[in-house]
Amino acid sequence: MATLVSVNVGMPKDVAWRGTTVRTGIWKQPVTGPVTVRRLNLDGDGQGDLAGHGGEQRAVLVYQLESYRHWQQYMKRDDFVHGQFGENFTVDGLADDEVCIGDRYGIGEAVFEVTQPRVTCYRVGLRLGEPQMAALLVSHHRPGFYMRVLTEGRVRAGDEIVKIASGPETMTVAEIDALLYLPGHPRQGLERALRIPALSPGWQTSFRALLADADGDSQSESGNSGLTITAPPPAWPGFRPQEIVGIEPESASIFSLTLASVDHEPLPAALPGQYLGIRLQPDPQGPPVIRNYSLSGRPGAETYRISVKQEPHGVASTYLRQHARVGDTLDVAAPRGTFLLKDADTPVLLLSAGVGATPVLAMLQALAAQRSPRRVWWLHAARDGANHPFAEETRTLLGRLPASRSFIFYSAPRDTDRPGVDYTSAGRLELERVRDLQPPQDADAYICGPETFMKDMTEALAACGLSASRIHIEIFGARSAITPGVVAGPAPAPHQPARVPGGRAGPSVSFTRSGLTTPWHPEYGTLLELAEACDVPVRWSCRTGVCHTCETALVTGSVGYSPEPVELPAEGSALICCSTPTADIGLDL
Ligand SMILES: Cc1cc2nc3c(=O)[nH]c(=O)nc-3n(C[C@H](O)[C@H](O)[C@H](O)COP(=O)(O)OP(=O)(O)OC[C@H]3O[C@@H](n4cnc5c(N)ncnc54)[C@H](O)[C@@H]3O)c2cc1C
Ligand code: FES
Repeated sequence: MATLVSVNVGMPKDVAWRGTTVRTGIWKQPVTGPVTVRRLNLDGDGQGDLAGHGGEQRAVLVYQLESYRHWQQYMKRDDFVHGQFGENFTVDGLADDEVCIGDRYGIGEAVFEVTQPRVTCYRVGLRLGEPQMAALLVSHHRPGFYMRVLTEGRVRAGDEIVKIASGPETMTVAEIDALLYLPGHPRQGLERALRIPALSPGWQTSFRALLADADGDSQSESGNSGLTITAPPPAWPGFRPQEIVGIEPESASIFSLTLASVDHEPLPAALPGQYLGIRLQPDPQGPPVIRNYSLSGRPGAETYRISVKQEPHGVASTYLRQHARVGDTLDVAAPRGTFLLKDADTPVLLLSAGVGATPVLAMLQALAAQRSPRRVWWLHAARDGANHPFAEETRTLLGRLPASRSFIFYSAPRDTDRPGVDYTSAGRLELERVRDLQPPQDADAYICGPETFMKDMTEALAACGLSASRIHIEIFGARSAITPGVVAGPAPAPHQPARVPGGRAGPSVSFTRSGLTTPWHPEYGTLLELAEACDVPVRWSCRTGVCHTCETALVTGSVGYSPEPVELPAEGSALICCSTPTADIGLDL
């Protein structure tokens, strides 16, 4: 008979960590006497970061004494106390390779159902003083698990744990954990997991993505699509010269460059929504600059087209405007990106402002080339007719679609701009405008433009009933950071590291979205830590090669891993939390 050995609770507190403050509820203390378990929590318990922990599916975290013994031996430690692994229930019995998702247990007055393994996160490593802990829990098949509360009631240390029902498919916690995190993801296992209603919705979404990959429906071929959005591997590594074969004005400030392979062979097909990296040398004495440009031409065409807005004082866009000539060659990195038009038969909303039209124009091109029967709405915001790129081209493309609608908003139309012909409405494309149009709720929306525009459109579409999973955005700059639990401080602009380690500098590291190049030095530890030293916005969760939150496109160069990640990232990407450069690299950060 399994037993509840200790009931542990703790409220979030601030902890100093690597020069920042982390708000975390990982420190739990044993409670003597009865504790009431409620649907979302035990009384007296809380989580610092509800995005990753807590909530109905993750109300109670369970960890086993047997695993305590395993880690004591493995780490040669004898200082563990109950609650050491952040768990609410320390139990004797209920091993991860015996307990199944969907199993139900009675403890004291309460009834529980097993929903998912523990999610990997750096905070368990923080609590144990062992940064690799998140990876070790997975690789040693000892994650522990979460339960939802079916019947609220009191529990206390010493209560017997009575199994009430077995989950369907008898898939153990250890098996489900390995199915998501370890390489392989066998199809049959994914199908079985998806037949367990008790499995939490988050894990179901991950397994559905992996299954789509196994079915070949998804556009990726490597990496873990259950943990991050993946894309096909880049068609070539690093940069290749391509010839400029056309230069066209598109509006007062935007011009297009058409690129062809130097041997005049057709270029590898890009997917609608992808972007290229271009490497330029505006200053012959300075480091090269790398900039991304979304492909605006028809996906599958023999040439690529990019459309560049000349930014006042912008290094690359000004250089291209002033120096690019037909017949010149440019160093071009293969198309990349995960802002991709999904294959479906549901409606499509393409929303853009200014030069943000480029990736959604490629999507419109793809839909028009297929004469797609889908309902397609084109919403574009521009200042006036002089600053309205691709006006004629989009009209023609929309005309080829049987079910298209177009809404053009000019914020400051000129006298010569014709309402009803050049534009639909005067004024800005704002939340209320979108709401008034009542877009279809089953549409997938693709948005690109300035940050405030994308924020407004996302809010507007959510208010119209579109689920978050149907709203996709492309950011023409650094992505927002994901730093779970870290108490937000000021976000300085990316800069060279404040302290440059002594000794010989290593390969150069370019953070392309942040426009920063800096030399590597082993003292930084990992590429993630170098990015942090430069205040380049980064995304991470486990910091030890399990969760793929830090997966970043590697525009050029190569990396080595230490420790080896649990599963390698998609080809052409790097897990920056556990890698170092082995050559000059460009990271899409
Ligand atoms: C995925 C992706 C897709 C993209 N697609 C496109 C696209 O299709 N078309 C496109 O045009 N861009 C696109 N971009 C943006 C593009 O990569 C460049 O960031 C953009 O062209 C600006 O680069 P730049 O070198 O000209 O400007 P930078 O020199 O990098 O300057 C950036 C900004 O700072 C301002 N600035 C620079 N120096 C000064 C100064 N001294 N004083 C005041 N302000 C200053 C510039 O005006 C500019 O707005 C995309 C970016 C990403 C990440
Ligand atoms: S942060 Fe989890 S794999 Fe890098």
